[in-house]
Amino acid sequence: MTQAPVNVTVTGAAGQIGYALLFRIASGQLLGQDKPVRLRLLEIPQAVKAAEGTALELEDGAFPLLAGIDIFDDPKQAFEGANIALLVGARPRTKGMERGDLLEANGGIFKPQGEAINAGAADDIKVLVVGNPANTNALIAKAHAPDVPAERFTAMTRLDHNRAIAQLAKKLGVSVSDIKKMTIWGNHSATQYPDIFNAEVKGQNAAEAVNDREWLENEFIPRVAKRGAEIIEARGASSAASAANAAIDHIYNWVNGTPEGDWVSMGVPSDGSYGVPEGLISSFPVVCKNGSYEIVQGLEINEFSRARIDASVAELVEERDAVTKLGLV
Ligand code: NAD
Ligand code: LMR
Repeated sequence: MTQAPVNVTVTGAAGQIGYALLFRIASGQLLGQDKPVRLRLLEIPQAVKAAEGTALELEDGAFPLLAGIDIFDDPKQAFEGANIALLVGARPRTKGMERGDLLEANGGIFKPQGEAINAGAADDIKVLVVGNPANTNALIAKAHAPDVPAERFTAMTRLDHNRAIAQLAKKLGVSVSDIKKMTIWGNHSATQYPDIFNAEVKGQNAAEAVNDREWLENEFIPRVAKRGAEIIEARGASSAASAANAAIDHIYNWVNGTPEGDWVSMGVPSDGSYGVPEGLISSFPVVCKNGSYEIVQGLEINEFSRARIDASVAELVEERDAVTKLGLV
């Protein structure tokens, strides 16, 4: 190994996404085949033993790039020196729980984690929030890390982005690699808006290539936006390997850049672009280069897209107002 290992903190390490994610990180797929990693796993005390079991299996993988594994039940320790933080562990909605209860329960997780990142993470920390409600959990963590540049807090909409590409490729009978410039706007929720008006298929405008408004409105958009629920219905559990795959894609591109002529979707703090209120963590098309990202500017937003972006952003505003009332941001 030629370089010092990159410290990667993963929360919810004993959960199902954690299990799908950790082996891929250890094998070099998160950062690249030249970058050794040290895993710092965070779990709640009751799940530490299960995380230890996963660590035994990681050891048995004999991964050349895996420089070490430490397991914690204290966020302050887990985020100490972290260069990359994958915030996967979250409080799922249970029976009888109202939306406000869910936001409050997650505030109890993401506030101390934001504080711990602020206190001890490395200067180059990059944070990806996967745990739902991902955008608002990222907003809470960001609010408690005033010394960390706000743009380092991101939320995952890459799974939605990948789902949209897959559905469009299927419709047109082309390969997923023929599709470029897909965009997810807004929240990682059923209000999200997958935009094909700015996407391209083999260089042609995707909406023109599809030329089927009925499919766009009544199949594509709801299918992508409700895919999480479709998976839960089919598997009896929420998406795990595809979510882990998207988390890998998100960080890989953030660190190593996006390919020329393409972009990806990331939930990032708004700078006011496209009329999204500043500070909200909303999904945008972004281009990544040299370890940072920029929101793609100047895209044409037609009336159809505008209404859908506004609806999803309105939901984010509601979530922000709810957590503000709870004193979480
Ligand atoms: P899971 O229930 O299998 O695992 C969650 C793990 O988090 C558990 O092991 C739990 O002990 C741990 N945990 C809970 N609170 C914690 C805390 N305070 N600190 C550290 N660990 C903690 O769930 P999963 O299937 O792995 O999913 C994790 C989250 O990801 C869920 O919120 C899910 O809804 C979300 N998700 C998001 C996307 C997305 O696209 N953004 C996609 C799929 C799933
Ligand atoms: C997904 O998009 O698959 C998940 O966010 C669904 C969920 O509620 O966990």
